[in-house]
Amino acid sequence: MDSNQQNALKAAAAKAAIKEVPENTIVGVGTGSTVNFFIDELIAIRDRIQAAVSSSKASTARLKAGGIEVIALNDAGPLSVYVDGADEVTRQLAMIKGGGAALTREKIVAGASQRFVCVADASKLVPVLGKFPLPVEVIPMARSFVARELVKLGGHPEWRMRDDKAVVTDNGNWILDVHGLSIENPPLLETEINQIPGVVTNGIFARRGADVLLLATADGVQRITR
Ligand code: 5RP
Repeated sequence: MDSNQQNALKAAAAKAAIKEVPENTIVGVGTGSTVNFFIDELIAIRDRIQAAVSSSKASTARLKAGGIEVIALNDAGPLSVYVDGADEVTRQLAMIKGGGAALTREKIVAGASQRFVCVADASKLVPVLGKFPLPVEVIPMARSFVARELVKLGGHPEWRMRDDKAVVTDNGNWILDVHGLSIENPPLLETEINQIPGVVTNGIFARRGADVLLLATADGVQRITR
């Protein structure tokens, strides 16, 4: 699949997600290129929603530029729906997320939402999570300790850099990308990694996985539920 085809599929999943948004509610919004298509769709119906709660500075900027009010999660109460992409997703609706370094806020907003709608193109569907390196957000002083603990779990952590500088999350932390994991039991590994002191959270979304997957394929958008 080339990038034009992939973008067309991302746009199709995003369009389908609009049907999952109840009228006159506050919408939880994820982060990433697929979600950017969703934000564009949301802007087109902005008069039919109250506001958004955003999972990143990048999504906040895009929402506001399109005239959508963005409110703090603390002022919103429980959200009816959260829409976000994934780096990998299984048919059981467990995911790896965090390719865009927004995993912690994404997990918080997802946790505060009644329904998680995952939007993805067909390339994201996998039988077992782990080919995509697992992002782990760490407190900077704990980076090297957490990396040694992740090696004990069988992974090969790599400190995420861009242009020779550490990637800094919206929360002021760093990311370790863990290669070489075959994640047979996603909720167990999610919990285990989160127990390491210095880990803010990891990119396995299984304890609170998606409720609905809108998977865009060449034959149309499949709606997969648990
Ligand atoms: C950001 C994320 C994204 O949802 C994930 O990286 C997928 O992004 P894209 O839609 O660009 O493929 O978790 O932290």
